[in-house]
Amino acid sequence: MKPHTVKTLLEVRDLEVSFQGIKTVTALSGVSFSIEESETLALVGETGCGKSVVAHAIMRLLPPESRVKGTVEFGGKSLLELSEKEMAKIREEEIAIIFQNPSLALNPVYSIGHQLAEPLRVHRKEKKKEAFLKAAKALKNMGFSNVSECIRYYPSWCSGGMNQRFLIAASIILNPALLIADEPSKGLDRKCVTELETELTKLKREKKTALLLISHDLGFVRRLADRIAVMYAGEIVEISDPSSLFESPMHPYTRGLLNSLPEKGFVPIPGFSPPLSSPPSGCKFHPRCPFREKRCKESHPGLKEIGRRAVRCFLCP
Ligand SMILES: Nc1ncnc2c1ncn2[C@@H]1O[C@H](COP(=O)(O)OP(=O)(O)O)[C@@H](O)[C@H]1O
Ligand code: SF4
Ligand SMILES: [Mg+2]
Repeated sequence: MKPHTVKTLLEVRDLEVSFQGIKTVTALSGVSFSIEESETLALVGETGCGKSVVAHAIMRLLPPESRVKGTVEFGGKSLLELSEKEMAKIREEEIAIIFQNPSLALNPVYSIGHQLAEPLRVHRKEKKKEAFLKAAKALKNMGFSNVSECIRYYPSWCSGGMNQRFLIAASIILNPALLIADEPSKGLDRKCVTELETELTKLKREKKTALLLISHDLGFVRRLADRIAVMYAGEIVEISDPSSLFESPMHPYTRGLLNSLPEKGFVPIPGFSPPLSSPPSGCKFHPRCPFREKRCKESHPGLKEIGRRAVRCFLCP
């Protein structure tokens, strides 16, 4: 049997993003990770830790006051060095991104069918009838049974959950190699989250789309991710497969995050995330860490690889 070869699709190396203002905010520092073809990598962490900035940096959608360093390689191309025109093509055809509020991303004046068919007409030069047939098929794949009706719906007629699934169908209609989903389950009720989970699982299985799944909801990502990267104050502090992460978390922050889950008794991590304009010295987690030592305040721990896992803590392993 031929050995299974793993191909890296996205490689982010030493990504640093800062925002220039009255004070410089270093939102990301030394962020490195990769995503293999068909793999789902989840980014988790408290609000403000830099998850969306990672997504926007990859897509080059950061505002003008941002400064970006490091490299982002996608399918052999260095995204940070592409011209705006080349990057626009990548955004249209190779990497899709969906945001938290689908109603804002869908155009209120066009029907769902139109919004699904349009990319096929523009980028694949498909005839109207064929494009609409493919749009209908895409809706069927997204779990809609009344496709001939759905295609005529307008976003304002639909629930947030339906619009989120329409948006995913529209984002993947050109078969991107990578889909970035930034908090896709936020604001949806339990039933819609379950439906979304089913559709994302199907997408992974059938289309082999790689996913960068951003969420603060650990339960949601546990069921979908192949690997989970935990972020704290603009850094990745642990990367692991879901079962190892949940059964034997290594970083004290990951342990705290898991203890704050309802099933573990809602024990919050004491203290607050530090301001990114003036982060603490040494390990950024040291002011909140129950295991801190003298060296934790003085030096900054690097991300150490331990087999298929990685952790940023002096005490691990
Ligand atoms: N345009 C901006 N100017 C200044 N700071 C910003 C800007 N965008 C994001 N930030 C800061 O970057 C940090 C990370 O933000 P974000 O990636 O949105 O967090 P998350 O998605 O994890 O909740 C936050 O502290 C936020 O205040
Ligand atoms: S390096 Fe020190 S302060 Fe940071 S997480 Fe590890 S033990 Fe805690
Ligand atoms: Mg965010």
